[in-house]
Amino acid sequence: MLDKQILQLDDTLLYGQGSHKKCFLHPHNKNLCIKLAYNKGGQKDLLREINYIDVLNRRHKDYSILPQYFGKVNTNLGTGYVFEIIRDYNGNKTQTLEDFITSPTLFAENFDLIVHLLKNLKDELYKNEIITMVLFPENILFQKTDENTYRVRIVNDMGSAVLIPLEYHFKYFAHTKILRRWKMFLDVLRNKYASHLSEKLIEEIK
Ligand SMILES: Nc1ncnc2c1ncn2[C@@H]1O[C@H](COP(=O)(O)OP(=O)(O)O)[C@@H](O)[C@H]1O
Ligand SMILES: [Mg+2]
Repeated sequence: MLDKQILQLDDTLLYGQGSHKKCFLHPHNKNLCIKLAYNKGGQKDLLREINYIDVLNRRHKDYSILPQYFGKVNTNLGTGYVFEIIRDYNGNKTQTLEDFITSPTLFAENFDLIVHLLKNLKDELYKNEIITMVLFPENILFQKTDENTYRVRIVNDMGSAVLIPLEYHFKYFAHTKILRRWKMFLDVLRNKYASHLSEKLIEEIK
């Protein structure tokens, strides 16, 4: 545990929420957030994610595409998991790929940027052998690190759900899995966001 004392969290600190987890601003450190699961699936997710980050640390991998993980903390809402908070250089909430593709104007105006960042995402995952579940656009963040500079990050979906993940330890299995997951990500784009997306984007990033 980072801290023996119990941190007090409440809805005024709520920063983001998905279907399994809540993400709170750390009450004492503006660079951190605290994640808690609010259902069983969420706890399973979190444990998979932090276990995977441990594996990456032990293997001295570059996982800077993922938020850094700093350990557990006691909170009034239960055990929390402390992560680097991903936000823009000016403190704004970072926009997600979903934000970019569900707005026809944002999508059209930033088409080249989206292609660039998604190609970058695929390269980073492949080069650093970072394993993910199927990627969802809401979990892919386009972090502004400067007025005109973006960096792609992932907040969720990392790790593997199989019992003995060979892909954690062997490059061949890692690469095979990453390419398979990328194909599934393209299917998500095709199926879930078809009305907003030109086939052109998929053509460019496949
Ligand atoms: N490290 C982080 N930095 C900034 N925001 C985050 C971070 N982790 C999660 N979030 C926010 O919290 C939301 C829920 O977290 P996520 O891990 O995606 O949970 P879920 O499994 O419920 O989708 C995200 O959509 C995002 O808005
Ligand atoms: Mg999520």
